[in-house]
Amino acid sequence: MDNRPIGFLDSGVGGLTVVRELMRQLPHEEIVYIGDSARTPYGPRPAEQIRQYTWELVRFLLTKNVKMIVFACNTATAVAWEEVKEKLDIPVLGVILPGSSAAIKSTVKGKIGVIGTAMTVQSDIYKQKIHLLAPQMEVTSLACPKFVSIVESNEISSSVAKKIVYDSLAPLVGRVDTLVLGCTHYPLLRPLIQNAMGEKVKLIDSGAECVRDISVLLNYFQINRRRELTDQKGSHRFYTTAGITGFKTIADNWLDQKISVEHVTL
Ligand code: DGL
Repeated sequence: MDNRPIGFLDSGVGGLTVVRELMRQLPHEEIVYIGDSARTPYGPRPAEQIRQYTWELVRFLLTKNVKMIVFACNTATAVAWEEVKEKLDIPVLGVILPGSSAAIKSTVKGKIGVIGTAMTVQSDIYKQKIHLLAPQMEVTSLACPKFVSIVESNEISSSVAKKIVYDSLAPLVGRVDTLVLGCTHYPLLRPLIQNAMGEKVKLIDSGAECVRDISVLLNYFQINRRRELTDQKGSHRFYTTAGITGFKTIADNWLDQKISVEHVTL
């Protein structure tokens, strides 16, 4: 047993898609979340800067006495996960390996699409990880740089959002049977993405897939939180580097509960 919280990091609100799934699958675990919305998006930034920002988020989570850190951000996973994992003595999980395995499991025709930020696509990491496991897969990657800003500005229901999603995904339509949402912000656009790609295409939520790995690790290291503590509601802590209101509006809506958010300067 280990009653300490699990730490989550993201460039903004995207990691909440992982948190929602964690709350569903492992409701007794306690969460500390940091979203760097003041400096989002990370995707178009140089690797060295993303690395530096990610370390700042990691150090912040370590001050909160977390038992595990989850990179709820594909971009940070692509750039810094291996390095951070080597340096820390608590488990550090990323979202790319779970997303890759789930895509391999899901595809019928061996044609997998991956959408992500400019950095995630440029790093080619999904293709590499998928090919390590299953070299016969055809992997087509596409950067969708406009999606993160739509989510961060809470415009997911606007007609502009619909047009951007349809236009951006046009090159992939009809070419893949499985599409990895290789950015944790994208599940907030899921209905639009599904419509644009067509009903038959299976969407893989890399963040949600990672929750299964969290569960396995908690069991393996026997560091689950005591179930008796589950009733102590309101112990989750959410931090943002930007304004509280924008973060809270999106989080309350997405997590379907009122959360408490604090502003933090890194
Ligand atoms: N949510 C992040 C990801 O999964 C980062 C998006 C960004 O800041 O560009 O890639």
